[in-house]
Amino acid sequence: MAIIIDGKKVSTEVRNEIKEEVECLKAEGINPGLAVIIVGDNPASQVYVRNKGRACEEVGIKSEIIALPAETTEEELLSKIDELNERKDMNGILVQLPLPKHINEKSVIDRISVEKDVDCFSNENVGKVVIGSPRFLPCTPAGVMELLKRYNIEVAGKNCCILGRSNIVGKPLFSLLLAENGTVTVCHSKTENLSEITKNADILVAAIGKPKFVTADMVKDGAVIIDVGINRMENGKLCGDVDYDAVVDKASYITPVPGGCGPMTITMLLKNTLTASKIQK
Ligand code: GUN
Repeated sequence: MAIIIDGKKVSTEVRNEIKEEVECLKAEGINPGLAVIIVGDNPASQVYVRNKGRACEEVGIKSEIIALPAETTEEELLSKIDELNERKDMNGILVQLPLPKHINEKSVIDRISVEKDVDCFSNENVGKVVIGSPRFLPCTPAGVMELLKRYNIEVAGKNCCILGRSNIVGKPLFSLLLAENGTVTVCHSKTENLSEITKNADILVAAIGKPKFVTADMVKDGAVIIDVGINRMENGKLCGDVDYDAVVDKASYITPVPGGCGPMTITMLLKNTLTASKIQK
């Protein structure tokens, strides 16, 4: 039976550390602030944005949620970002994705000042991660790395396999695992002989958005299993990309869904907002 990686517990630990640091910054006259923009009324996005605001409040970071109607034009959104780029009291700017179809997400992300891009989505900030001199760390991949670190799971020299090549998770996580000297393979929908690769992995990360895709026969005995997937099943329950009940007996460590990687993403966003306030002081 694997050790269950408790993302809620680690998240609380890290948030307490952030809270202490925020208090120290406030004593120096620095008040970290995060602006979160949401366009339209996607219910899932509304929940995420509310949770981000609440998390800020808990650690003493000021947050401002800017809710714009679905009809907002790209130009109007860009001018809102220009305004926030100028504001000294807002250190981080996050535009919740997805945006309505008439707005070009890339143009919007690249309008955010690179020093305020706490999602770490801009070309420059992604590039800095790739070359190993990051300004910010991409939130979900950084959450995965933090879980590995806090459970003393060594990455150096290990075969790491990432399922999924998204710009938000798979690709940046490749850079972070490589920076820790892992031997990293990124698999995707066109990968051949997938099980042969996953069965060779000491650390297997699933980030493909397919419920229970990773089955026990795809996993090496004693592997570390990190499940980034969050899928809603027909019965309304959440499940990951890993068939947890079957894999838990084979793995040495495993993240549950919910309560594994999920809580870490917002925590790393808070950390980036803290970093932003420090670099802008
Ligand atoms: N939508 C889903 N995940 C994310 C995220 O990490 N950041 C933003 N801005 N939007 C998202």
